[in-house]
Formats: sequence, structure tokens, C-alpha cells
Amino acid sequence: MEQLKVMTIFGTRPEAIKMAPLVKKLKKDDNINCIVTVTAQHREMLDQVLDLFEIKTDYDLDIMSDQQTLVDITVNVLKNLETVLNKEEPDLVLVHGDTTTTFIGALSSFYKQIDIGHVEAGLRTGNKYSPYPEEMNRHLTGVLTDLNFAPTINNKHNLLKENVDENKIFVTGNTVIDAIQEIVKENYKFDNEKLKDVDFDNNKVILLTAHRRENLGEGLTGIFKAVNDIIKSNRDAEVVFPVHLNPKVRKTAYKHLGDNKKVHLIEPLGYLEFANLMNKSYLIMTDSGGIQEEAPGLGKPVLVLRDTTERQEAIQAGTVKKVGVNREKIFKEADLLLNNKQEYLKMAEAINPYGDGKAVARIIDYILFHYKIKGVKPEPFQVD
Ligand code: UD1
Ligand code: UDP
Repeated sequence: MEQLKVMTIFGTRPEAIKMAPLVKKLKKDDNINCIVTVTAQHREMLDQVLDLFEIKTDYDLDIMSDQQTLVDITVNVLKNLETVLNKEEPDLVLVHGDTTTTFIGALSSFYKQIDIGHVEAGLRTGNKYSPYPEEMNRHLTGVLTDLNFAPTINNKHNLLKENVDENKIFVTGNTVIDAIQEIVKENYKFDNEKLKDVDFDNNKVILLTAHRRENLGEGLTGIFKAVNDIIKSNRDAEVVFPVHLNPKVRKTAYKHLGDNKKVHLIEPLGYLEFANLMNKSYLIMTDSGGIQEEAPGLGKPVLVLRDTTERQEAIQAGTVKKVGVNREKIFKEADLLLNNKQEYLKMAEAINPYGDGKAVARIIDYILFHYKIKGVKPEPFQVD
């Protein structure tokens, strides 16, 4: 039988982490010829993930430029993908999530009338500019998509509200749970020299990440001032901040936190080190999307440094709290978790609404069912 030609297209760190387990399993499936195309919207941060999961790319568009604009990414991905898609003519393209690579990957495939599968479909805040431009990227991708792989039932309902045909939606769990289960080890020892200086035994270690476009400037300033306030009031608190490579983030981070001895500003960590750092931290403060899905599975409370979130499941479960970017509000919530054991334990109860580690298998089984290669429709993911 002829193999189904499936091309995965991704380009940034979070897409790579969440697509890695899928790529590895697609490559092993005899029914599928898997072609890996990366846009390299990120360079170093993408390569860290490709190296860790030992993924060999078939096409690398290498488009990243310093301080790239949304238009730069859009134009360069669109132009370069045309050549690759013309040459390979896949049966199905798989994109992930909500980056500009995602949307333009879908748009390029639509222009060639190639089927599109959207992994991590159906996340919504309902606010066009928050997160920006991700809310529109996933919405626009959704409009073009033939197979929606929704991580949760809530995500499926978002799509149904937009009149997406129910037969085009399949609930899978999030592939990030498949990825992290492979990576976190209880007796893990860090390689990174700077992490060896952190006193995990005696201090309460706060892991911080921040990079969102809508937080650049004022938002980041509010966050970083709050971090200094937290350190001033809590002698046993220490902060680790792997700083995103975006020069705008770096400038503000070093300006406000560079002189604070209890704040470790370090380079972005490989996923192996980062996931295990999450597991050893007391509290996580972040504006990241993916971390809101990973941390609940590790029983770590998260303060979300954003005004909106598309990850409502963890908020409902109580392990994640949305605090925005206001200095006083962030300080108040972090200070509470550092000093009130009961409040801390309420949030740290380990629940995981996002997956069971089998999302990748479900996605592939569904693809094989959809293209009539296998006769049995797989069962969707359900939270126990
Ligand atoms: C992008 C995604 C965002 C995702 C984030 C994950 C868009 C519009 N944004 O945002 O949804 O949450 O990735 O981190 O798709 N840089 C490097 N090396 C790298 C990566 C970035 O130097 O490996 C620098 C470059 O100067 C680049 C800048 O960071 O121009 C910004 O990168 P970009 O992909 O445009 O935006 P992110 O904020 O990373
Ligand atoms: N991450 C990592 N190294 C770091 C910071 C984050 O490997 O130094 C991982 C993290 O575990 C999560 C993903 O990168 O899986 C989140 O990426 P990011 O915050 O850049 O993007 P978002 O999820 O907000 O789109």
C-alpha cells in the first residue's frame, strides 16, 4: 500500500516541544511517510529542542532575523514554504498551536489545496489582541483546518460555538504531557553551572518566565518590579529566570533585575533542564502558554502574568491563578503563596486536566482512520 505523506511544519520552541513526540511516532509508522519542515522562526531555541529529541529535519527555511516583525515572519515563511510544498505535495500538513509559523503554514497549505491538521486546536480567550497575535493566529488557522485535534473537551466546545463541524474535531489531550512524561526525573541533577548555585533545599525557589508581545514595555516592567518587591520581603525566596532571547525582553530584564543577587538571570534552558527545574521549584510565575499546562501535572502552583488566558481548565481546577501584570497584585499573590501554607497547598494539589500521555497515539490513529487506512475510530481523551 502507498504511504500517506504527512508534512509537519513548526518553527518556535513551544511548537517543537509539543510536536517532537508526534514527529518521532509518525516517523516510526509504516503507513506514513513523515517529512519534517521547520521554518526556524526561532533559531537557537528551536535547535535546543531538535537536538534533545534527535529530530532530523528535511527542510529548514532558516528565516529568523534579529528583531523580526510579524510581517517579516509572514512574508518569509509564505514565500519559502511555497517551494517546499510544490516539491513534496504532501497529503496532509500538520501545524501546531498559534504562532505566525502555524497560521502561515496553514495558509500556504490552503493555497495548494492540501489537507490541514491543527494540533492544539480550539484554545480561545475571545480577545483579539490578547494574546497578540496568537488569538488571531489560532482563529485564522482554525478557519482553514480540516482535522482539529483539540486537547480538551472545553477546546472542542469553543470550536462548536464557531460552527465547526463536529466530525472535524477530535479530543486528544495535549501532546506536551507526552513530552514532559519522557523528560522529568525525580533524582535529576542539573548540568547548568548556574543552577548548581541555587539553594533548592533551604530556599523557596520561584521560576520566572516572561516574553509575550503584549507584555513588552510596561507589562514586563510591572512584573520585574514586583519580583524585586517579593525578594525584599521574603528572605528565603530566590528567583530563577531563564531569559528569552528576544532582545526587547533581555533589555528590560537586565535593567530591572540585573543587580539583584537573589535573582538568577540565565540563558534559555534546554527542555530537559527546564522541565526538571519546574519540578524542583516552589512556585512558577509566567506569561507562557505551555507552562500553564505542564505545571499542574507536576503539582506546582502557577501565577499567570497575563490579563487573559486560554487555559481555563487549570484555573477552574485551582492550580493556576491569573494575576495580570500589575506590580501590587503580583506581589500580594506571590507573598501569600510564600507565607501561607494552606493557600499554597490548595493550589499545589496535583491535578492534570491536560492529558494522559497518549495524545500522540490518538492523533495518529485518528489520521489513519480518517484516510481509511485503519477501520477503527479511536476513543477521545477524557479526564478521569
Ligand atoms: C514567538 C511566537 C509566540 C510564542 C513564542 C515562544 C509569534 C508571533 N510569536 O514569540 O507565540 O509564544 O515564540 O517563545 O509567532 N530570538 C533569537 N533566537 C531564538 C528565538 C528568538 O535570537 O532562538 C530573538 C530574535 O531576535 C527574534 C526575537 O527573539 O527576532 C523574537 O522572536 P519571535 O519568534 O518573533 O517572537 P517571540 O516573542 O519569540
Ligand atoms: N521552556 C524551555 N526552556 C526555557 C523556558 C521554557 O524549554 O528556558 C519550555 C517550557 O517548558 C514550555 C515551553 O518552553 O514547554 C514554553 O515556551 P514559551 O514560553 O517560549 O512559549 P509559549 O508556551 O508561551 O508559547
